[in-house]
Amino acid sequence: MAELSLPRNSKVQTGKTWNKPDKKAGDWKQFKIYRWNPDDPNNPRTDSYWVDRSTCGPMVLDALIKIKSEIDSTLTFRRSCREGICGSCAMNIDGTNTLACLKSIDDVRGAVTIYPLPHLKVVKDLVPDLTNFYAQHASVEPWLKTATPTPPKEWKQAHSDREKLDGLYECILCACCSTSCPSYWWNSDRYLGPAALLQAYRWVIDSRDEGTGERLDNLEDPFRLYRCHTILNCSQTCPKGLNPAKAIAELKKLMVERRV
Ligand code: SF4
Ligand code: SF4
Ligand code: FES
Repeated sequence: MAELSLPRNSKVQTGKTWNKPDKKAGDWKQFKIYRWNPDDPNNPRTDSYWVDRSTCGPMVLDALIKIKSEIDSTLTFRRSCREGICGSCAMNIDGTNTLACLKSIDDVRGAVTIYPLPHLKVVKDLVPDLTNFYAQHASVEPWLKTATPTPPKEWKQAHSDREKLDGLYECILCACCSTSCPSYWWNSDRYLGPAALLQAYRWVIDSRDEGTGERLDNLEDPFRLYRCHTILNCSQTCPKGLNPAKAIAELKKLMVERRV
């Protein structure tokens, strides 16, 4: 049998324990959190933090903020809105990509394990490098493209056409879907991934957009669209309840329809 050996610094070691209570009195919860600092030559590690839930909010993000404010200020993570709107607190919690601000601590039995979104370079601790992800989003030209002269007031849209954007416009670009997709793990340099493709579809079916042909031309490539193998991890993990796999299937259908 072939033996795989991982690079030395890919092995995650057991790190420090912080704030462990002497007695178990109180409502204590353990959080095992991935730590890596590019300025530190040591391997990544998981540090263990104990949080008294009687003085902490209900969500995983509340615990992370409490840890950073009261226990270990070096812990690094992104967050902004605290209500599932900005997408910046996306991370892997208890084995699933999700938003820390929408994930209830009650939903996790035992210790809460927290890692950065998988298969991306790590900038520090729970902060992944999303440079390629954003470049892919930009590559689908996520804006209205028109050829006819701009109307004096606004581009009008029938209610029925506007409704076609439901389930698409709500995407907050958190990257939970793309980083749960095995095809994206192995080909993220060439496959656009579910988030960018959902956005591509959102503009293709916008009744006001006049760039449909060139948008589809842009996806006519063995990798950019067709590396989706309908594994469906993306739709299962989306914390906003969207269905990128369906959007990708609709794009593939449009590609076929324009050939006949
Ligand atoms: S489709 Fe869902 S999981 Fe993917 S980026 Fe948008 S909001 Fe996040
Ligand atoms: S359906 Fe496509 S995009 Fe979604 S996880 Fe599977 S391969 Fe990836
Ligand atoms: S902090 Fe904005 S989505 Fe979680």
